[in-house]
This record gives sequence, C-alpha cells and structure tokens, in this order.
Amino acid sequence: MADGKKVTVVGAGNVGSNTARRVAEKNLADEVVMTDIVDGLPQGLALDINQSSPVEGFETRAVGSNDYGATAGSDVVVITAGLPRKPGMSRMDLLDKNSEIVGGVTKEIAKHSPEAILIVVSNPLDEMTFLAAEESGFPRERVMGMAGVLDSSRLRFFIAEKLNVVPSEVQAITLGSHGDQMVALPRHATVQGKPLPELVDEETLEQLFQRTRDGGAEIVKYLQKGSAFYAPSSSAAAMVNSILNDVDDVHPTCAWTTGQYGISDVYLGVPAKLGRGGVTEIVELDLNEAELTQLREAAEAIRSKCEELSARR
Ligand code: NAI
Ligand code: 2OP
Repeated sequence: MADGKKVTVVGAGNVGSNTARRVAEKNLADEVVMTDIVDGLPQGLALDINQSSPVEGFETRAVGSNDYGATAGSDVVVITAGLPRKPGMSRMDLLDKNSEIVGGVTKEIAKHSPEAILIVVSNPLDEMTFLAAEESGFPRERVMGMAGVLDSSRLRFFIAEKLNVVPSEVQAITLGSHGDQMVALPRHATVQGKPLPELVDEETLEQLFQRTRDGGAEIVKYLQKGSAFYAPSSSAAAMVNSILNDVDDVHPTCAWTTGQYGISDVYLGVPAKLGRGGVTEIVELDLNEAELTQLREAAEAIRSKCEELSARR
C-alpha cells in the first residue's frame, strides 16, 4: 500500500522517465509526477506508463506536466534535469549549464513541496547536491545525491562477472565522489561471504575498481549521444523505496558530513541509513589510514569545487 505517497521526478529524459517507471512498477507511491521543460514529453511518457499498468499490475498513477503546480506536496523529489555527458566529456564539464538548471528547478520544488526529501541525480553529482541544498534551504538530512548505489552496483556486477557468480552473492561498497575520486574498499567486498582480496590478485582488484570508476564513460562511449539510465534509475528508485517505506537501511549516499571519518561540512559519498527523515545516520565503517586518506582527498576536491560554485552564485 502506498498510503497517499507522492513522488516527483524532475526531468523526463532517460534517467527521469525510467525512474518514474520503476517507482510505478514497484508501487512505491500513489502518484508519480514527471515534469520537464519540453512540452508534451512528460505527459506522453506518463500516459505510456499508465497504459502498462494493467499488464504490469501496478496501481501507481503517473502524471506528466510542464507546470510545478502538479508536483505540489511531494514526499520525495528526484532531480534528473540537466544535460548528460557526450563522448570525451567529464561530468565536471556539465557544471556551468547544469548549475543553472538544477538551481532553477530546486527553487520551484522547494516552493511547491517544502517538506520534500530531495534526491539529486544530475551531474556533476556531488556539486549539484550541494547546490540543491543551498537553493532549497532544506535541512541537510533532507537533501542527498545518488551515485554510490550506482557505482557499488557496477562494481558488484563486474566482480560477479569476473568470478562467475550471481551478482546478488557479491557485496561491495564504494565511497567518495562520483568520479575519479571514487574510493573502493576491497576489505569490505565479499563474494559468497569470502573477502574479495582472498579471491583475486592485486592487479585484478585494481582493474575491477578502475572499470567501475570509468563505468559511466564506458557506456557513454557506446551510446555516443547520452549516458547510462537503466542502472541509474534502479539506484534512484532503491533510495526512494528506503525513504518512503522508512526502511532505514544503508546505501552509499552523497550525504552532508558532520564529523564522520574526520570530515565535516561537505557533501560526500558515505554509507548512510535512509528512512522517512531522509539521511537518518551516517555509518562509520572501519577504514584503514590509506582508505581514510583517499576519502578525505575526495572530500577536499568536492569542497573546493563547491566553494567555486558558491563564489559564482
Ligand atoms: P536526458 O537528456 O535524457 O534528460 C534530461 C532531461 O532534463 C531532458 O528531458 C530535458 O528536457 C530536461 N530538462 C532540462 N532542463 C530542464 C529544466 N530546467 N527543468 C526540467 N527539465 C529540464 O539526460 P539523462 O540521461 O536523463 O541524464 C540526466 C542527468 O543525470 C545528467 O546530468 C546526467 O549526467 C545525470 N546522471 C547522473 C547519474 C548519477 O549517478 N548521479 C547517472 C546517470 C545520469
Ligand atoms: C554515470 O555514471 C553519467 O554519471 C553518469 O553513468
């Protein structure tokens, strides 16, 4: 039962429309609203989702609109509006354009859904999450970014493929930034309960981590005119589920740090419990000095980009 829950997805492009579809197919909400600047796009996609409901057996109603009025009173808002990468572009190349877009949509969302929890997806992820927190003025535990669920899922898949096991038998988590400063944690990765470093050599470990860091770019190179959307939308929907259903389970999340791992006042990929209040707790894993150093370096790189962003606003 969805109990009157409402989810909005801003941006009805590849990630947004697939997130709305997954929210509907999992019956996570009574209503999932998609909004976009392109006339007709969210309306057409919402109608298409609704027409699949008899076959898929879900009750969520999809609504498409170009007007923020339709989003009013949302419990969770997923922000996917913005440009995706093209081949050869880094996520950071999207900073200027996507800051304008994410800044603008966040103001509208904050006006119409003042109690919402925001999940930012637009890139560059860590900086756009910071921007959404600033523009909304929401308490920081109600603003978070999606990247770690995706990066960790990619890593789990690559490990499963390498060791020829089913992906659900692999546990692994990535922290840090959504980009080159992703922090992989070999000591916390297991396959059928066995620590990953006992199963593969150092070189293979590094190849798996590097392929994960480059996971988005590998897909951009194949697609040529867009970036990944199936795994990103699965990841966003998993976070929506934990929040709406108050699951309070741990997801690698771009969350506001308040001293954990010796890091404060910066959005960073960390393990976080997600529930009805948003980020309910940042979990402190046992990290060694090298892992802590990498995490702190990622935090400082994000902090410095966010300071640049703040100076321009
Ligand atoms: P897309 O181009 O398919 O969709 C973006 C949509 O945003 C378009 O429909 C566009 O009309 C809409 N849009 C642009 N300006 C808008 C505005 N002011 N208000 C409302 N809608 C607006 O792109 P896609 O593939 O859906 O990616 C969306 C964003 O998510 C990109 O920035 C991409 O880099 C990022 N991304 C992040 C991931 C992560 O792990 N955090 C994973 C995958 C994508
Ligand atoms: C990804 O990792 C583009 O950030 C996006 O696929």
